[in-house]
Amino acid sequence: MGQERFGAAEDLYPPAAVDHFTSPRNVGGVDDPDGKGSDTNPACGDRTTITVRLRDGRIEDARFRTFGCVAAIASASALTELVRGRAVAEARAVEPADVIAALGGLPARKEACAVMAVGALRAALVDAHVGSGA
Ligand code: FES
Repeated sequence: MGQERFGAAEDLYPPAAVDHFTSPRNVGGVDDPDGKGSDTNPACGDRTTITVRLRDGRIEDARFRTFGCVAAIASASALTELVRGRAVAEARAVEPADVIAALGGLPARKEACAVMAVGALRAALVDAHVGSGA
């Protein structure tokens, strides 16, 4: 579905979400990742990929790439910020609602974009053999 105009983003999204969209944190890929995972938003076909590096049971680094909308970028940015430095078990327990709260809210039709970010993280943790499906 592509990107929305920035002006529209300012109208639709809370300041925290606009900040994560305009200055996304942790973009790219982790060097020497322990896990890599992707998820797709079935509503639009967009995709987010997250890579993680673990150390001593914690997320030492987490980075993302997304072909997604304003909400997808903001969600992945906020999620990687939420989980960096946290214990793997805590990171596994992060829910889309936590990401949405960190953004100050998302339009209801954009909540699936946050679900996609969390799905990518969980897939990365499974790939690193520390996810619930491992
Ligand atoms: S509309 Fe496609 S990821 Fe948000």
